[in-house]
Amino acid sequence: MGAQQGTALITGASAGIGAVYARRLAERGYDLVLVARREDRLRGLASELEAAHSIRVEALKADLTVDADLQRVAQRAAGEDLTLLINNAGIGGYGPFEQVDPLLLEQLVRLHILGPMLATRSALPGMLARGRGGVINVASLLAFSGSLPPNPLPHRATYAGAKAFLVQFTRTLAGELRGGPVRVQVCCPGMTETEFNGGYKGAMKPEDVVTASLVALERGETVCVPGLEAADALVALEQAEAGMRAGAKTTLAARYR
Ligand SMILES: NC(=O)c1ccc[n+]([C@@H]2O[C@H](COP(=O)([O-])OP(=O)(O)OC[C@H]3O[C@@H](n4cnc5c(N)ncnc54)[C@H](OP(=O)(O)O)[C@@H]3O)[C@@H](O)[C@H]2O)c1
Repeated sequence: MGAQQGTALITGASAGIGAVYARRLAERGYDLVLVARREDRLRGLASELEAAHSIRVEALKADLTVDADLQRVAQRAAGEDLTLLINNAGIGGYGPFEQVDPLLLEQLVRLHILGPMLATRSALPGMLARGRGGVINVASLLAFSGSLPPNPLPHRATYAGAKAFLVQFTRTLAGELRGGPVRVQVCCPGMTETEFNGGYKGAMKPEDVVTASLVALERGETVCVPGLEAADALVALEQAEAGMRAGAKTTLAARYR
């Protein structure tokens, strides 16, 4: 079965949204490469999905804050069988910026920026040459929180900045790839009921996040906001960006003189 759909590589597949992507894609007949640090969980899920769906599942243990592991995952993403790359692994790392351990901030950047970018760079040439493929980057609604104060939201400058990178990286890349065979999507969930936030009840179910993302992929939507009923806000965002670009001239703005 998997030979038709090809292989989906999913980072952060040991829990939450990533594990739901794995189950959904297994149901659709994809072979899978499951990436995370908790190998026992990956192996458990792999055995279950292989048995239930007659697909092949690899458990690839990797810590995506470590350069060598990041390179190994990127290398696997270049595999000829790869038809879908889902960069989903993530942690919060919240806290007042001046107090957060600089090492943790660096890890956030590796996990949310370097990892997805390098894996996408690895996967794309083959996907383009083979004439099929897709990339989903899981960002967050917090990518759009720049105009809000920290409270009552968590202090989150690096997390939000990294997720904003994923939003703009994916949208700009989508422009480069428009009309071609490879679709890219950035998925921006709001609060979701996973281990990420202690399984906070009343948040969106990870199943709904993945449903939205896979429907959006089929429709060719670049920005998927699972809980956004009307797309007006996205249109307004694009218009605001166009206004910034068109409004900024080569002459110094009067208020700076
Ligand atoms: N939950 C929310 O409210 C929410 C909202 C918006 C966006 N998001 C984003 O959605 C994505 C998935 O989050 P989730 O809610 O499903 O969280 P989760 O249940 O905590 O799962 C996070 C996944 O990322 C993996 N991961 C974390 N650090 C890793 C590392 N250093 N190397 C490799 N894998 C690592 C974890 O596996 P191991 O621990 O086994 O390594 C786990 O599989 C994240 O990018 C998150 O930022 C979440």
